[in-house]
Amino acid sequence: MTQKTLKLGAIIQGVGGNMSAWRHPEAIADASINFDYYRQQALKAESGKFDFLFIADGLYINEKSIPHFLNRFEPITLLSALAAITSRIGLVGTLSTSYSEPFTVARQFSSIDHISGGRAGWNVVTSPLEGSARNYSKPEHPSHPERYKIADEYLQVTKGLWDSWEEDAFVRDKESGVFFDPDKLHTLHYQGEHFSVQGPLNIGRSRQGQPVIFQAGSSEDGKNLAAKEADAVFTRHDSLEKTVGFYRDLKGRLAQYGRAADELLILPGISVILGQTDEEAERKYWQVAKLVTIENAIDYLGRYFEHHDFSQYALDEPFPELGELGENSFRSTTDSIKRNARQHQLTLREVALQAATPRPTFIGTPEHVADQLQQWFEAGAADGFIVGGGTPQGLAEFIDQVVPILQARGLYRNEYEADTLRGNLGLNIPANRYTPHTSPVTR
Ligand SMILES: Cc1cc2nc3c(=O)[nH]c(=O)nc-3n(C[C@H](O)[C@H](O)[C@H](O)COP(=O)(O)O)c2cc1C
Repeated sequence: MTQKTLKLGAIIQGVGGNMSAWRHPEAIADASINFDYYRQQALKAESGKFDFLFIADGLYINEKSIPHFLNRFEPITLLSALAAITSRIGLVGTLSTSYSEPFTVARQFSSIDHISGGRAGWNVVTSPLEGSARNYSKPEHPSHPERYKIADEYLQVTKGLWDSWEEDAFVRDKESGVFFDPDKLHTLHYQGEHFSVQGPLNIGRSRQGQPVIFQAGSSEDGKNLAAKEADAVFTRHDSLEKTVGFYRDLKGRLAQYGRAADELLILPGISVILGQTDEEAERKYWQVAKLVTIENAIDYLGRYFEHHDFSQYALDEPFPELGELGENSFRSTTDSIKRNARQHQLTLREVALQAATPRPTFIGTPEHVADQLQQWFEAGAADGFIVGGGTPQGLAEFIDQVVPILQARGLYRNEYEADTLRGNLGLNIPANRYTPHTSPVTR
């Protein structure tokens, strides 16, 4: 029996995920809008045999947003360009179901899937920030439960559209003049509460059948949507114990949708800081953390709570009582911030600094970090990880120093097994609903 191996994605975030990361001496200060930077990161991740690149996104900024959010590439456009300069690595981008149209989005991801030869993935998000409504001509931001209802319907439509054409629908026989087989073309005629889409889609199936569906959102509604519809989940928890709990909970929900536990990959997002010694890693963490002022941290924290102005409270008093604030935005995150503050009786200063400059769980020597990853994987916390560098060189260091250890332990591939994203992730190609008698195909 071959050993089960872990999956790795690389989250690439331009100048970085905190307020002051761009000021780090090694940071490329315009990285968020510098295609050469993304090109180099993508090729580096591909040299490390990563399963995929991951591009997050958002739809509303103000002057308090972190620098990366202020001036960055739109994911579909960026991934199309990266598709042309990579050959094996998967290309996963975030796109909101609350502020887009399923016909357009089905086409866009299908196009990237064709351009890349079957390497596209879509991170389905419902958009946390209320301000997004003001950028999309909407009277108001849908409530948290409503956003998830929209997302569910949205996925029925996109998956339906992706089945418009059966595998061998395009005959393209010049001799007879038959371009396609009309029996293999299907019109969706979807009528729902939020969407009304006739179809068919004007692009056929890709080599991996359909783009891989990722989902990011860890509330009850988020977990149910993932169990029902997703191929992979991006999540984030601060301890092994909590991550194991999330993993068991989510995998346990699959059966009610007629799915097997291995049909959904759970991939926690982790930030990594490496050093040749523990002390060096610790120094590198503090070099990053000290760049963030308390004012920066307060602004960063505020974003999770609809850009709430935390500067009105005393910094060294207990974290303020916020009632329901945050429940309509980043619910799973704001619930966890409030719970943590209450449980550990934290002050506002402590909460803000923890949110803005969290000390990575995966910090230390390459051996130590490899041990931790192995421990999480074998403890049933994760099927793999979405890795972000906690310093500008973090991802490259991970690839050069940690990946070889994982490979030597047989925990990670030496070569890509396939040339599609589904193939490398070990996911089945979804059967076209109209094609008779096909059982799920692997790769
Ligand atoms: C790990 C993680 C990553 C996320 N990434 C994004 C993102 O890139 N863009 C976005 O608009 N929302 C993102 N979200 C927010 C979700 O889309 C969702 O709107 C919000 O978290 C509320 O859902 P939840 O309460 O189910 O977590 C992310 C959420 C989580 C938990």
